[in-house]
Amino acid sequence: MGGEAWSLEHVSAGFDGRPVLKGVDLAGSSGEIVALSGPNGGGKTTLLRLIAGSLAPLAGSVWRRPGRIAYLPQNPTVLLHRPTVRAEVSFTLERSGELEQPETILNALGLLPMADRNPRDLSSGERQRAALAAVLPGSPELVLLDEPTRGIDSSARDALVALVARLRDRGASVVLATHDDDLRNALADRVINVRDGKVAAMSLAVPT
Ligand SMILES: Nc1ncnc2c1ncn2[C@@H]1O[C@H](COP(=O)(O)OP(=O)(O)OP(=O)(O)O)[C@@H](O)[C@H]1O
Ligand SMILES: [Mg+2]
Repeated sequence: MGGEAWSLEHVSAGFDGRPVLKGVDLAGSSGEIVALSGPNGGGKTTLLRLIAGSLAPLAGSVWRRPGRIAYLPQNPTVLLHRPTVRAEVSFTLERSGELEQPETILNALGLLPMADRNPRDLSSGERQRAALAAVLPGSPELVLLDEPTRGIDSSARDALVALVARLRDRGASVVLATHDDDLRNALADRVINVRDGKVAAMSLAVPT
């Protein structure tokens, strides 16, 4: 495992004056996969958004090492704006200056047959895979995935596990918010439970 990649110190966050997270201290390292678990509404998405920098804390400080962030939102449709699935992947690769071919990740996620289709015309499972392809190509430093296996089948889950493990091996720091025990068991170095405004380390073996 490498050095620290992101950290939250005494962070509180919330909406409309109502706190969701209170006094959270948490950090992640390069080459590490952290899984966030906990009940609906517990604050997993809020925590991911804080790490990504798309939500500002009400108190405390958030730090992340500079570099590309691969962020999969809980609703992937908000991410997909280009006319084809291939164009989504090319856009990410071009913007990050990476030389990888879009076909590499399209093939890994079984998307070559729909590479030239509009992401908005796909089934929800295909759209989830298209969103993964749009965020995960190349070598992002920080990988933040919100419910990445929602609506996908076991072969797509296996492909996702292999892709995320490869990014971890390249030194990415990964945070997954997930209710999927199989995904968590396959990938997580640590599990953090998020509920009642607090975060707590959990044993890897205990289901939520
Ligand atoms: N943009 C927002 N505006 C107002 N309240 C919000 C907003 N986003 C989240 N919340 C509230 O903050 C709390 C935590 O929500 P969050 O989405 O972080 O939980 P979660 O653990 O990701 O839940 P789930 O498992 O359902 O995805 C919930 O009570 C939610 O209603
Ligand atoms: Mg959520």
